[in-house]
Amino acid sequence: MTRPLTEGGTDPLVEAGLEIVARGDGSPLSPEELAALAADCDGMVCHLTDRIDATVLKAGNAGRLRVVANAAVGYDNIDVATAHALGITVCNTPGVLDDTTADLAFLLILVATRLATDAERDLREGRWQGWGFNTHLARDVHGATLGLVGFGRIARAVARRAAGFDMHVIHTARHDTEVAGFVSLDELLERSDIVSLHVPLTETTRHLIGAAELARMKPTAVLVNTARGPVVDEDALVDALEAGSIFSAGLDVFDGEPAVNPRLLAAPRATLLPHIGSATIETRTRMGRLACQGVADVLAGRTPPNVVLP
Ligand code: DGY
Repeated sequence: MTRPLTEGGTDPLVEAGLEIVARGDGSPLSPEELAALAADCDGMVCHLTDRIDATVLKAGNAGRLRVVANAAVGYDNIDVATAHALGITVCNTPGVLDDTTADLAFLLILVATRLATDAERDLREGRWQGWGFNTHLARDVHGATLGLVGFGRIARAVARRAAGFDMHVIHTARHDTEVAGFVSLDELLERSDIVSLHVPLTETTRHLIGAAELARMKPTAVLVNTARGPVVDEDALVDALEAGSIFSAGLDVFDGEPAVNPRLLAAPRATLLPHIGSATIETRTRMGRLACQGVADVLAGRTPPNVVLP
């Protein structure tokens, strides 16, 4: 394990009688430490902050590594093609974090649309002069058109929450979902009051939202990203926020985490959270268990349901 899990997370490994080697205190391991760990173990439980590249996988393959389980649903940190070629199984944690991540996406929808962090900052920093009829004016969430980019489990969980706010939901995806509300990305950007991103990071989704896409959005529109940072061209987003060509943004993920683009930190109307989409005790425990169950299954000769293929 490249980091300790929440209590109970390792139960499937313990129940299978496996020896657990936990390295690190919670901070990311270096590439050399990851390779050394991989070379020493039959199975690895890792995290989205661990880059499991060809070097790490080959070190594991030279030892006895048979399975890598990412305690995350996104797996852009793992070279799945090389793992597959080496016969190392890769697993992730789909399903168990959908509602928790959708809650956080909705939190950002509310906070960014109502400019709640700016208002709180004014209060904390002594700038609040008392109730004002024309101050802290934001935009309505209820009744707004919500555009979901990607229509997987998390996006659909956000759509369910939006129904309670009487929002009009449209979505786009790589292929026609044949579900009511499917539109092209361009149409979604033009029509939405709030755009929320729910796509994995791949070579086709890197900078999916750049200057041209931001220019299609309404000047009153809000952008929310709980997917992966590089899906958005952050400099183009800051340009749009600075120019007022979109209203605000709520981000839980960043390109180059944990570093945050200093322009974003200084950008107006930006709510920034430190990648906490799935960060509840219950969900992190479910994620840990599912990842560990994947390792236990593979080492017992079973195929886990959550195998990732190239
Ligand atoms: C994931 O599982 O991919 C999330 O980003 C973790 O919060």
